[in-house]
Amino acid sequence: MHKVIFDTDPGVDDAMALLFLERHPQIDLVGITTTFGNASIETTTRNAQFLKREWGIAAPIAKGDGQKYLATGEIHHYPAHIHGDDGLGNIGVPDVIDGVPLDPRPAHRFIIDTVKANPGEVTIVAVGRMTNLANALHEAPEIAGLVKEVVIMGGAFDVPGNVTPAAEANIHGDALAADVVMTAPWKVVAVGLDVTLKTVMSRKALAALAERGGPAVELLDRISQFYIDFYDAQAPDSMVVHDTCACVYVVARELFTTRSGPIRVSAEGVAEGKTIQKPDGMIFGRSVWDDKPSQLVCTDVDAAGVMALIEKTLAG
Ligand code: BDR
Ligand code: CA
Repeated sequence: MHKVIFDTDPGVDDAMALLFLERHPQIDLVGITTTFGNASIETTTRNAQFLKREWGIAAPIAKGDGQKYLATGEIHHYPAHIHGDDGLGNIGVPDVIDGVPLDPRPAHRFIIDTVKANPGEVTIVAVGRMTNLANALHEAPEIAGLVKEVVIMGGAFDVPGNVTPAAEANIHGDALAADVVMTAPWKVVAVGLDVTLKTVMSRKALAALAERGGPAVELLDRISQFYIDFYDAQAPDSMVVHDTCACVYVVARELFTTRSGPIRVSAEGVAEGKTIQKPDGMIFGRSVWDDKPSQLVCTDVDAAGVMALIEKTLAG
């Protein structure tokens, strides 16, 4: 069993990822921590509460920070054109979700406490801005040695970004936080656009899944329509399953090809949010990658294998 803390900004593709984690038999979802990104922290937290209630999820929710790591600048914007004004495809999520209280601790403190209570056992799957993780490391750097693994959806290594030619959204949205996470002495696996753009589910396949997966997948299907419309130009009539792809890595890493080496993130300027890996074994002059831990970047994926596992898991 994998104990997982899911750090997320629901978010349409986040919603699918949450249902995947909840339904996968080898995953023990021990907590949901929210981050801003696809919408404000108030909206993403409310959405996590909504999904917890609708899907009967037991894991507690802890609310994350609503501003960037160390308050280093303004939040760029919330992509309502991709995830809807309500962050869940404009299905009309209620403003307040009764009966789903939040954990009293802020997300970064929840992460620290949970990791310390389960040394060496917790995998953090982070699919939004990396702010909560950076805050946790700032307050308790010793947790780096206690976390089993950090799997992130983020970055664009050998491909263009999706919010600028240089940067992917989760990294661009809090670039300094991402650099802190990549360079900490823990094991990071970056599941970025290099592979997630290859993992797509057609509208038709999702509809068919909704018939097999019951009301939970029916809700997911409704949530996803707005997002599928947005992605039409890149993935005709289909859903790019960025965040679920990262979750699949936790249980089926054999489906991914990886490259090892330290990762740095450009924190400002025209390349703000660009993720750059120095592959192990390549020789350069002195650089800011020196003495940083080697991390794994996913460079290729068995997309058919990933999609088959997602469909099987969501169908329940
Ligand atoms: C990432 O950004 C968000 O829009 C998605 O939820 C995903 O985590 C893709 O760049
Ligand atoms: Ca996300």
